[in-house]
Amino acid sequence: MRIFAISNQKGGVGKTTTTVNLSASLVARKKKVLLIDLDPQGNATSGSGLNKARTAKSIYDVLIGRESILNVIQKSAESFFDIVPATQSLAGAEVELVDIEDREYILKKQLSQIKKYDYVLIDCPPALSLLTLNALVAADSVLIPMQCEYYALEGLSDLVNTIKRVKKNLNPKIEIEGLLRTLFDKRNTLGKQVSDQLSAHFGNKVYSTIIPRNVRLAEAPSHGKAALFYDKSSKGAKAYLELADEILERNNY
Ligand SMILES: Nc1ncnc2c1ncn2[C@@H]1O[C@H](COP(=O)(O)OP(=O)(O)OP(=O)(O)O)[C@@H](O)[C@H]1O
Ligand SMILES: [Mg+2]
Repeated sequence: MRIFAISNQKGGVGKTTTTVNLSASLVARKKKVLLIDLDPQGNATSGSGLNKARTAKSIYDVLIGRESILNVIQKSAESFFDIVPATQSLAGAEVELVDIEDREYILKKQLSQIKKYDYVLIDCPPALSLLTLNALVAADSVLIPMQCEYYALEGLSDLVNTIKRVKKNLNPKIEIEGLLRTLFDKRNTLGKQVSDQLSAHFGNKVYSTIIPRNVRLAEAPSHGKAALFYDKSSKGAKAYLELADEILERNNY
């Protein structure tokens, strides 16, 4: 079982889109996948076809110690992976956990009960918060989606430093799984420049797969589906399948 945290503290860079669509693509490649929504916005939950208003138990109950993660796993409506949903209540967890001992290790301990998946993908909120720390402590590696624009590289060094600190103090095995260029617009020359700089800094950690800006990827969540089950011939759906294949090849799995 491989556990990926999908993380970038910058908002709107395609974390949730990547988590949902990569999950669906790994399922299409016959892998068993669990998606964990760790963002109070609950976008991965609704984007997977679950009704947040009717979600009784969520990751919040797991983090505050009220439920085992095993009792909170649901089937996604349309996309054939399993999911631990998040709702707005998760926003309060950050404060409630402050006094709890080993608060960075809660998710890791809960995940140690789970064995039956090939991949666990954790959708992180846009912050280097205690929620994100729980993901980084539980994960084998971090998949970093990023938009190739000027400020992206600045934000990246904060994230890389956080990962280094986590590796030193909390989770020695954590690695960068890969950097994923998202929302890519071929006509934008700045995108090409930033993309080149990224390769210069991170070498083969940068996936050769690039996720283009594609309207089907933006539409699919309102249907509660991954793009693969909404319009499988779309450029977006195909790009995430290509990413899944690249990841499977890298992981020999
Ligand atoms: N490749 C893409 N092409 C077109 N639209 C996209 C693409 N990727 C993401 N989007 C859209 O851009 C917006 C932000 O994407 P997403 O929610 O995946 O980012 P995020 O990093 O999870 O955001 P947040 O930080 O708020 O959690 C969404 O409306 C999404 O539908
Ligand atoms: Mg998100």
